[in-house]
Parts: sequence; structure tokens; C-alpha cells
Amino acid sequence: MDHLTNRLEPPLQHILACAAALAATVDATLWLVGGVVRDLLLELPIGRDIDLAVEGDVTRLAPLLATTLGGTITARHPAFGTATLAVDHWIIDLAQTRTEYYPQPAVLPVVQPAPLTTDLARRDFSINAMAIRLVADDGRLLPMPLFDPLNGAVDLAARRLRLLHDRSLRDDPTRILRGVRLAARLNLTPEPATAAQIETALTNGYLALLTPERIQTELCLTLSEPDPAAVVALADRWQVTSHIIPGLHWSSALAERLARYRHDEAGIAGLAPAEPVIAGLLLYDLSEDDLQAVRQRYHLPTPFRRLLIELSRLRSLAQSITTTLSPSQLDALLHSYSTATIAVLHYAATTSTASLIARYLREWRPLRPPLTGDDLQAMGVAPGPQLGRLLRDLRAATLDGTVTDRVTAERWVYQQLAAARS
Ligand code: CTP
Repeated sequence: MDHLTNRLEPPLQHILACAAALAATVDATLWLVGGVVRDLLLELPIGRDIDLAVEGDVTRLAPLLATTLGGTITARHPAFGTATLAVDHWIIDLAQTRTEYYPQPAVLPVVQPAPLTTDLARRDFSINAMAIRLVADDGRLLPMPLFDPLNGAVDLAARRLRLLHDRSLRDDPTRILRGVRLAARLNLTPEPATAAQIETALTNGYLALLTPERIQTELCLTLSEPDPAAVVALADRWQVTSHIIPGLHWSSALAERLARYRHDEAGIAGLAPAEPVIAGLLLYDLSEDDLQAVRQRYHLPTPFRRLLIELSRLRSLAQSITTTLSPSQLDALLHSYSTATIAVLHYAATTSTASLIARYLREWRPLRPPLTGDDLQAMGVAPGPQLGRLLRDLRAATLDGTVTDRVTAERWVYQQLAAARS
């Protein structure tokens, strides 16, 4: 087999070679593990997150690597033997090779140092349990063979998802969600024993034992998958969605919304952050009760909370939007909603209203009238309700094209003031 680490970007190869040489000076051995090894075998692009298993003392090694490689330690958990380093744009997770013991289902494990082979066996799936030893000579990584005691490469070639031990999903039910993501992304099929374990874990309600925060982390990862619709389709097929978000089902309408987002013919995807928009497109069909249940169960960050509140009003709003509306009438309906929510409305709408909403987002929403509140005060308008009304009407006049520049705006203001006096 080719030297797999040759496929890594040269600056990363250099960082890993330096790290391996430094580790050797404190009697530690580094192994590239997890998703990176899997993705190297699949010849997929390698992301910024690099997992290293360390046979040795991470507490001692992490500061040494940070200083010598010019990085910073962004997290450390001595009780778990882990540390995270930021070096250039890579996030390097160091974890001492360990065995895990779960005192109860779905809680965090108690860990103890153990050899690499034991560490690989405690992991989720065979395809994530392969390693490559990092050995450096003269600043370069030496070609090392794949270490694959659990036959992950065979499973990967057969596109097979295989759990490594019977208690895996009881110990850590997030692995059900990880399995769905991986299977959807890499087109994997669970082998029979794994499928049976997933079914049992769902029947036993293990997902309900997880804290909302842990589920939320997995949901966020789903939102950043290349094809979230495929993940939801598979989660629905595996009967997982009802445990996480009751009311969420895969449908062709959902797939079409997400496809429209992906193709983004109207060129508006860049106007709002991706994750809330994708979440909105996924949750668009949920009933008011189901949306409220999501709000109550998860402690979502503000953009998502706002989206969920606005989503419940969105279907009736969609019905009020017709192509006969003027820009200012559309603005009156939409201006209080977040850009993400309006983007959701766009991707969920019919073709004719969709282009109107796209035009609103691109052109009309960012439009500012030629005069500000300060300008109006300089023209003699006192601060107060009249000034607020004038500013609002001036925006409407600008949107509809009655006002086009400062001169027409000033004339318009004097006309309004004269009309108010008479
Ligand atoms: N892992 C595990 N059980 C979990 C989470 C992680 O066994 N619940 C192990 C797997 O070996 C996994 C590795 O830790 O490969 C790193 O986890 P993570 O960085 O979350 O995922 P990746 O496998 O790197 O996958 P992705 O491509 O989705 O980032």
C-alpha cells in the first residue's frame, strides 16, 4: 500500500513529523487515528481536525508540542489524558491511549491508560479504529504500515458499518447518531449484528438517557454534513428521528427544499449563516407543538431560538406573500424576521414568490433611505413619534422608488411636513 500520510498536506506532514520526533524525546509514541485514517484510505479530503493517540504522558507532551510547534493549547483535561492544540489552522486532539469504563449507560466514562490495541477496541466502529504510527527521520514522516487489528479496512472496502462490542451503544448512545451520519455520508450499510444492536438500543430508549447538550452537539454536526437531507432520510429509515425531534420526517418536499438551498440559483445562501437556514428547512413542516417541544428540550443558541419562534409564524406568512405586493408592502411583512428565516421562506416557497423573496433579500432589505434621523432633525423635525413615522415612511417611499436620492428625499420630507401642518 502507498504511504498514506503522503496524502496529507505537506505543512501538516511537517508538523506531525516534528511532533513525532519531540514525542520520542519524552518516550511517547504518536499514532494518527480515527476519521483521518479512514478518510485517507477513502482518498477523501482531510479536514482541520486531526486525532492523535498518544502512548505516553499527554500532560507532559502537550506543552512541549505547543511551545516547539508554535501552537497554543486550547483545552486540556488531565483526568481524561487529553489536550487540544491549535497549530496553524489545524486542531490537533491528543488523547492518551486508554481503556474506558462506563459506570452507567450514557454517562461520560472513567478512563485508564492502556495500550493502543485496547484503545482501538473501545472505539465506535471498525472503520474508525485504524491507526498509523508516526515516526520521523530528519524532519520527514517515514512510511509506516496501517495498523488495523480490527479489520476496519475490509469493512470500509465493503462499505460496512460494524460496531466493535456489545455494550457500545448502551455506553454511548451518541454512537447511534454518529452511525447514521457516517452511513449517510459514506454510503455504508450496518452489518446484521450492528443493525440488531441499533434496534435494541432504540427499543431500550438509550437516546433518551443522553443530556440534551450531547444530542445537540450531534445535531449541529448533522447540519454541517455535506448532505443533511441524506442524514435525515437515513435517520428516518432507521426510526431514529422520533427519539430526537418528534415530528421530523424525511419527505420529498424536505429534500426539494434542501436541494434548492444547495443549488442556490437565486444567489442568497451567503446572506445568512448556513446552520440556522438548514435547520429551518429541516423543521419547516413541524407542527406548532413539535416546534415548542424542540425549544423546550434543547438550550439552543440565539439564532436557532429566534428561528424556531419565527418558524411557527412562517406558514401563515407564506400565504400572505403574493407577486402583486410592492417592495414596501413586502418589507412591512418581512422586516422584523431574521435573514435566516426569510431565506427559509425563500427555499420553501413556490417559484414565483421565491424570486420575489430573493429580490427582497438581495436588493430591498439592505436598502437605506438617503436621509437619516440626524438629517431629519437638521431639517427641523423634533425627536419623537413623528420622526419615527417619517423615517419608516421614507424607507417605504425609497423602496417603491418615489424617493431616489437626497434631493427627492428632502422634497418628500417637506411635503409630508406641510401636509401634517395643514
Ligand atoms: N469515537 C468513538 N466514540 C465516540 C466518538 C468518537 O469511538 N462517541 C472515536 C472514533 O474512533 C472516532 C474518533 O474517536 O474516529 C474521533 O472522533 P471524532 O473526531 O468525533 O470523529 P471522526 O471519526 O474524526 O469523524 P468525522 O469525520 O465525522 O469528524
